[in-house]
Amino acid sequence: MTHKISFRDAVKTYPVKSGTFTALGGVSLDVGEREFVTVVGPSGCGKSTLLGMAAGLVEPTSGGVSVDGRPVTGPGPDRGVIFQQYALFPWLTVRRNVEFGLRLTSMPAGERRARADHAIELVGLTDFADALPKTLSGGMKQRCAIARAYAVDPEVLLMDEPFGALDALTRVQLQDQLLDTWSKERRTVMFVTHDVEEAVYLAQRVVVMAARPGRVHAVVDVDLPYPRTEEIRLSAGFAALRNQVWQAVYHQAPAGPDPRKPAGGDAQAPAGAGT
Ligand SMILES: Nc1ncnc2c1ncn2[C@@H]1O[C@H](COP(=O)(O)OP(=O)(O)O)[C@@H](O)[C@H]1O
Ligand SMILES: [Mg+2]
Repeated sequence: MTHKISFRDAVKTYPVKSGTFTALGGVSLDVGEREFVTVVGPSGCGKSTLLGMAAGLVEPTSGGVSVDGRPVTGPGPDRGVIFQQYALFPWLTVRRNVEFGLRLTSMPAGERRARADHAIELVGLTDFADALPKTLSGGMKQRCAIARAYAVDPEVLLMDEPFGALDALTRVQLQDQLLDTWSKERRTVMFVTHDVEEAVYLAQRVVVMAARPGRVHAVVDVDLPYPRTEEIRLSAGFAALRNQVWQAVYHQAPAGPDPRKPAGGDAQAPAGAGT
């Protein structure tokens, strides 16, 4: 398999009063072309830092990441980024929001419109293309944010807990829709979540991280067929994988000391909490 994204000894440290805080302690990881990888781990283990580095939003302290063999030095149209907080322009319709990223290109208006409409169709928002964000539910707003990333037609999608703020039903619907789109358009996807079930349901491979220093703790191959269905979600094979990932996430050796906290203080965030 060709490597699309390659982290090599990626380190990120932040200066703190008492010295240095190591958010990422040397991560090496390859994501294959068209692969769907999820990254899961306790709060604060460096998931967002890792993804942000691939997005070009977090500068590595040493080592780093390359996409298609080229070192990442900043954001680029080859990588679409989707965060938990959908940032839509409230005064623009769904279609205008989706077209927005294309305005920076020299694309003719007609093609821009066609690309936007295709992306809107992919996420099932065609009937709401002329609606303003304030008239949409949270799930629909997030679909719009996803369509905006799709419209630019990036080869890589970097998603940081994109469904974290949504109710359980909407979440499952968007998971299925994302997989449906991925099976049609087959981009490379790196998807961060703190939800073990979501991590297993979506991925071909689950990367489990551990904290202090942030690092890859385990990698679990998800040997389940696509399309993923309700039947698969309820299968014994799925349960076994979910348990395996759960064990890897929540039965890690205790994280190292946190230089930001007074000695003896336990800074370990509750399992599964936060982003
Ligand atoms: N700009 C920053 N300055 C200092 N510490 C940071 C900064 N960004 C992140 N961190 C710390 O790095 C660690 C990893 O953060 P993050 O990647 O957001 O974790 P996760 O997404 O897994 O919850 C956390 O302990 C966080 O507090
Ligand atoms: Mg995060």
